[in-house]
Amino acid sequence: MDFFKEGKVGFFAEDKQLKKAEVFFNPKRKFDRDLNVLLVSSLMHENSAGLELFSGSGIRGLRLCIETGKFSSFNFNDIKSKEIIERNLEINKKKLSGIDKVVTSSDAASFKASKKYDYIDIDPFGSPVFYLDSALELLKKGGILAVSATDTAALMGSAQKACQRKYNSVSLKTAYSNELGIRILIKKVFETAAKHSISLLPLLFNFEGNFIRIYFRSTTSKMKESIGYAYQCSKCPARQINATVKCRYCGSKMHKIGELWLGSLYSKRHVNVMLSAIKENKINMSAGSLVKLSDYLTAVSRELDVFSYYTTSEISSFLKQPELPMSKFKDKTVLSPKGFRITGSFQDLLDTVRLR
Ligand SMILES: C[S@@+](CC[C@H](N)C(=O)[O-])C[C@H]1O[C@@H](n2cnc3c(N)ncnc32)[C@H](O)[C@@H]1O
Ligand SMILES: [Zn+2]
Repeated sequence: MDFFKEGKVGFFAEDKQLKKAEVFFNPKRKFDRDLNVLLVSSLMHENSAGLELFSGSGIRGLRLCIETGKFSSFNFNDIKSKEIIERNLEINKKKLSGIDKVVTSSDAASFKASKKYDYIDIDPFGSPVFYLDSALELLKKGGILAVSATDTAALMGSAQKACQRKYNSVSLKTAYSNELGIRILIKKVFETAAKHSISLLPLLFNFEGNFIRIYFRSTTSKMKESIGYAYQCSKCPARQINATVKCRYCGSKMHKIGELWLGSLYSKRHVNVMLSAIKENKINMSAGSLVKLSDYLTAVSRELDVFSYYTTSEISSFLKQPELPMSKFKDKTVLSPKGFRITGSFQDLLDTVRLR
């Protein structure tokens, strides 16, 4: 067991790179936890009740409690690491004073409680689908739900059968598969929420290699139904969301992808509130972390609200040209360093590339 520090918290855990780690901790997810702290600090009210279904060492929940000041009660849950969480709570006792803390070791799939929560966090190994019901059952109106997934092979088109089984969707390996994964995960969460008569608004996403995380707010207003299919040409980069059997550009067969979420991947209003919180010095974090968060959110807030991005590599290899520089495209995406979005069709894109 090693002692770590992250944000304002000191804690015991094992680096997950070590074989047979008993208490999971991944130092590489620091940016993701910083983003989590910022989101909760800027979007939640005081005296909130929090539930973290997969606490690991407890670092995420501890940071949320200590750095946001938004919780009056917090339930840390992990099927395996109750003792280490209790030890880590003890180490940080002073900073946690005034917060009613509970540590449990339930299976998240059957977690039950007699109260509802303003914030629920699902951060499992693999797919979150088995835990959505128990979480949504306990989410208050107006509450925030955070959902992570690491089963990116299923979500991003490498493991088709697993995607069908878990998400009831067809994914596809494309230049923009991480976006497909995000959209399929959002669809699944929406579908499950509908069973509980809950409407959700996607607030923000974060993609880091084999890790997807999405934040939702439960809303009272009925959300527009934005679930459907997308169509990707089997031979060229053309894709569209209007149903078609053949590619409008080259006439080849189209792959049908979905069902997936076709609405916005983030809420501009909420992202702007988070950016303002940084600008107004309301977030107590190191200057370096704040710069990274601000850069990320600024880029997210500029994303065009359209289905899928193209990459310079796929366009250049299709045109059999040397790779186009990113400077040719103004609407970049945070989802790929070589990715950009356009409002028109693939044909429009080719016309602009050829004209320049
Ligand atoms: C990815 S880690 C959580 C990491 C933590 N949220 C963080 O940010 O450091 C997943 C954790 O889920 C726990 N776990 C696995 N299956 C579980 C289940 N069915 N119910 C509750 N906890 C479970 C594991 O013990 C592990 O600590
Ligand atoms: Zn085509």
